[in-house]
Amino acid sequence: MGDFVIRGHVLNPASARHVTMERRVLHVGADGLIVASHGADTPAATALLDEAARCGMPVHDLTPAQLLMPGFADLHVHAPQWPQMGRALDLPLREWLEQRTFPLEARFADPAFAAPVYEQMVTTLLANGTTTAVFFATIHEESSLVLARTCLRHGLRAHVGLVAMDDPTLCPTNYRNPSIEQALAASRRFIHAVRALPGNEHGLVRPMVTPRFIPACTDGLLHGLGALAATEDCLIQTHCSESDWEHDYVRQRMGVNDTVALDRFGLLRRGTVLAHSCFMSADDMALVQARGAAIAHCPLSNAYFAGAVLPLRQAWQAGVHVGLGTDISGGYSPSVAHNAAMAVTAARMLDTGNDPALPPQRRGRPGTRLTFAEGLWLATRGGTAALDITAGQLEPGMAFDALLIDRAAPGSNIMFPPAGDSDYAPEDIAQQILCNMGRPNIRTVWVAGRRAFGPAL
Ligand code: GUN
Ligand code: FE
Repeated sequence: MGDFVIRGHVLNPASARHVTMERRVLHVGADGLIVASHGADTPAATALLDEAARCGMPVHDLTPAQLLMPGFADLHVHAPQWPQMGRALDLPLREWLEQRTFPLEARFADPAFAAPVYEQMVTTLLANGTTTAVFFATIHEESSLVLARTCLRHGLRAHVGLVAMDDPTLCPTNYRNPSIEQALAASRRFIHAVRALPGNEHGLVRPMVTPRFIPACTDGLLHGLGALAATEDCLIQTHCSESDWEHDYVRQRMGVNDTVALDRFGLLRRGTVLAHSCFMSADDMALVQARGAAIAHCPLSNAYFAGAVLPLRQAWQAGVHVGLGTDISGGYSPSVAHNAAMAVTAARMLDTGNDPALPPQRRGRPGTRLTFAEGLWLATRGGTAALDITAGQLEPGMAFDALLIDRAAPGSNIMFPPAGDSDYAPEDIAQQILCNMGRPNIRTVWVAGRRAFGPAL
């Protein structure tokens, strides 16, 4: 892979508030990083195009209906729940785990069952524009390594967690770690194995310490996993304050909220990803901010299993990192774009309220709504920043994790005006993409400058 140049519209989440859409000339280096981005009509762009002609660097021109944008970050996916996506949404969280989810995940003891599932899931996520994913796998080392290898083979930037869960109160005999020692040894082996995978020299796929959630783990295991994350300098992921049942369960057992308990076990650190977090207090958010940890907001899943909407703006105001998660299969869509639109919709319903029996002034929580520019940020840089990944914006120094979107592709749900979109505000375009984009619009996907899905230019 050598250097190349792309000229065309670039949709860029410059900040959480501000999205830009400009014609630019982008130089992508052989190392997969964006070397330069110049306004298309500037002398710097002309100089770059001259240099490209002189060195034989390929220059690709986009059509007026095409644009480049950063790829999506999905901070919370249960890879083994892929066969269950779009099913079993009718049970409360605990029953759903016990009756549907644990029996499905137990089948991943067989790597031959896991391999085709993980293959289809990884390629489908890429086809939907996900360039960074954070996965819960299962407790099985071999099939979890199959997942890591599958991500690597397809060039998906990924974080893979071998799940740890040992508490017999909640976990069935056929799907739990038999002892604390076994769980810790397996997690340590898995961390080393992922880091040593052939082809993973640049760390495209990273391991994560993954206590499923406090109710599934004994104190001894949680303590051991905190120590392991520290000695291995490893990222952490878990579920946090998701539903009334889960939140109350932890308060009864620990006498404190999830965040304080996780912190005592050494599990709340920079790079910790806390899924859901709907029931966090202001003190919880302050603690999460102080530790530099992040929330994976999963708005679709929350409608079914949390029974609440995360007050996301409050988390931002507390200085907490927030990204988006599909939470497959708690959430039914593999599209981060559609989850971003759902985040905006859910925040709107929190803001205005939704019970028509209440008077409008008592119906909602004013000040909690989100804009579509903020939705785009959550779907891209919000997620990568939480993980200290230099991607998520199409700017010099960032990895070229990018999508070529074609708004006029056959089968598109997006209306692209024949006269062009020069009178569209950048936020209108962000909104159209989050709300109405489908797979036909995602032509080519790059991760770290390498084409991971779709045809070459
Ligand atoms: N809490 C513990 N495990 C899970 C899971 O698989 N999905 C969700 N949504 N919550 C959980
Ligand atoms: Fe989850």
